[in-house]
Amino acid sequence: MNTNVIVAGFAIAITAIIWVGTTTNDESWTGNRNACVGDCYQEWKAENGGSIADIERVKQEALAAASPEALGESYYGQCVACHGGNGEGGIGPQLAGQAMSDISSKLTAYREGEARGAQSAMMWPVAKPMTDDDIGNLAAYIGTL
Ligand code: HEC
Repeated sequence: MNTNVIVAGFAIAITAIIWVGTTTNDESWTGNRNACVGDCYQEWKAENGGSIADIERVKQEALAAASPEALGESYYGQCVACHGGNGEGGIGPQLAGQAMSDISSKLTAYREGEARGAQSAMMWPVAKPMTDDDIGNLAAYIGTL
């Protein structure tokens, strides 16, 4: 085949792709994300939040609406390696089955840097950054184990 024919074939194909792209770019066809401009974009923005600040606000609202157990469960990810996925214990003691009030008073003690058992030094850096809410959430979650 003659190279001119190939070049001409490509040119026609590219023209066709560009033509399809421009003619389908109308607002009524919402399947094309690029078509969401003007009112369409304003509507999307009103519904979903258009800026990083809005997205952060939505995230904070979702966090505030989450239950203490759910928040505690996500924090508990940091504890799994030593206390087991179900609080069954391992490097650290078993937590499952302990009363919520015991969990929170023990965590508060570690946060204050108090020695409880021989290995309390392992818990001090873990508990140090915890807020009262974190402790409450963790106790609520561990109470479900
Ligand atoms: C690096 C391992 C390690 C990690 C991570 C860790 N722990 Fe511990 N944990 C221990 C050890 C070891 C002890 C026993 C400390 C002692 O001797 O006082 C302990 C003790 C505890 C106790 C007291 C248990 C009892 O009955 O005396 C609680 C409650 C506790 N951890 C909760 C947590 C929570 C909640 C997390 C996650 C936020 C966590 N720990 C993360 C190792 C760990």
